Amino acid sequence: MDIRVSIGDVATFAGDGLVINLFEGTAAPAGGGRPRRGAPLGGATAAVDAALGGAIARLIQAREATGKWGEQTLIHSLGRLRAERVLVIGLGKAGELTLDRIRAAAGEAARTLRKTGARRIGSIVHGAGAGGFNAAQATQALVEGTCLGLYRFTRYKTTNDAGKAIERVTIVERDRQRLTAMTEAVRRGRILAEATNAARDLVNEPGNTLTPTELARRARAMARAARVRCEVLGPRELGRLGAGGLLGVARGSQESPRLIVLTYGGRRGGPHLGLVGKGVTFDSGGISIKPAENMEAMKGDMAGAAAAIAAICAIARLNLPLRVTAVIPATENLPSGSALKPGDILRAMSGKTIEVINTDAEGRLILADALTYARRRQVTHLADAATLTGACVVALGTINSGAFTNDQAWLETVLAAGRAAGERIWPMPMDAEYDELIKSDIAEIKNTGGRKGGAITAAKFLQHFVGETPWVHLDIAGTSEADKEKGYQPKGATGVMARTFTLLAIEMLAR
Ligand code: BES
Ligand code: MN
Ligand code: ZN
Repeated sequence: MDIRVSIGDVATFAGDGLVINLFEGTAAPAGGGRPRRGAPLGGATAAVDAALGGAIARLIQAREATGKWGEQTLIHSLGRLRAERVLVIGLGKAGELTLDRIRAAAGEAARTLRKTGARRIGSIVHGAGAGGFNAAQATQALVEGTCLGLYRFTRYKTTNDAGKAIERVTIVERDRQRLTAMTEAVRRGRILAEATNAARDLVNEPGNTLTPTELARRARAMARAARVRCEVLGPRELGRLGAGGLLGVARGSQESPRLIVLTYGGRRGGPHLGLVGKGVTFDSGGISIKPAENMEAMKGDMAGAAAAIAAICAIARLNLPLRVTAVIPATENLPSGSALKPGDILRAMSGKTIEVINTDAEGRLILADALTYARRRQVTHLADAATLTGACVVALGTINSGAFTNDQAWLETVLAAGRAAGERIWPMPMDAEYDELIKSDIAEIKNTGGRKGGAITAAKFLQHFVGETPWVHLDIAGTSEADKEKGYQPKGATGVMARTFTLLAIEMLAR
């Protein structure tokens, strides 16, 4: 999809659809009927209204267009404009506008126009000047929302409604002074949205094609395109490293495990961000097998991996001046004659012994080794993302990811990145008392602490492998998939944390 900025008069835009906006409480212009309270129709909307012979003012007077948040009014221009259709989107009250609302509005608008068969669409920049956003910020949000909202996973669709596709988005701006900043904002917005969409592609891919080997192959291809270094360790190297957690989980599967290591930025000294992502390409639970219902969703148990891979590539594309290492432990979790059993004891890469109580608590076993490995690569800060616990879904639902930390300042940095990304994150407690629940009688720790506080005991388990390194663990079990479309989020994989991790690098540099 081509995205460009065009300087000129919005009323002269030629294409299949043009998106303009309306704030709630906007008055129809005088002369169009009874005077109303509220701000008058502004800039681009007024210009298009004039070209349409007052059609928008009429809709406002008739209360058919109110500017309420989420409202869409589609008007055929009947030859009065060079755009076939005009889509008026409601932005809600001007004082309530956020960048995430701009993203959502842009995503919905682009999908609506795609349904009409539009190929070339135009849009003004929503909210530039309003809500305290400048043209660049609003443009970036517009681009992110458009690319994210138009995402679909069509790889396995044999009947082709991909025939309906937006080919070009033209962002129309009057002020030539803004061109440079807006063009740069388009590039940033694209990189961020494409990172999320790349993560979504990996998560949507089924387990039979996206094996650990294939995940490594995809990571390598993505890394090459972004000029990120990629190393892939197999069972032999993992054996030499004593990666008992990852090798233990992998024992039940015919598919060979991988430890994927991506590195960006060469300069020593300064911050070195370590990203770790859970890469279970299918989680059956192993011998502690899961019920059949919804087990298919467990092809997405590598959403953390997808976010980490996509983010390091986006960070490289943005040329950010820091070092980043992403470590992805990749395996299946299956039952077999050689599978891990409840009661087994593993020795992790760090040397710690783990009593396996439940083979379905496999994520923490493989993350233990990945966190240890990242620390050996001398990262200064750690962030991991993992579809780790059903307990986190019970606690926070599908709206917020859970955050767990050993360092409040580093948590604040991660939260700031999440806010900038529009990805909601909620801090969870980490009191020392929770540690009691994962003490083992015969090993150092056990891999489950019972049902109570399950998301916290999982995080406590991970904490055993991060030492003093500032660390934030993000449990994305509830947020990695959407069960219905909303705003810039189509149904299916969300690609959550790809943008948060990318913006985390920017946030680190700003502090
Ligand atoms: N991958 C699952 C967690 C999960 C659940 C992700 C629902 C997405 C949606 C994880 O490996 C798991 O099975 N966790 C167990 C841990 C338990 C055995 C301590 C769980 O949450 O039930
Ligand atoms: Mn599991
Ligand atoms: Zn799992």
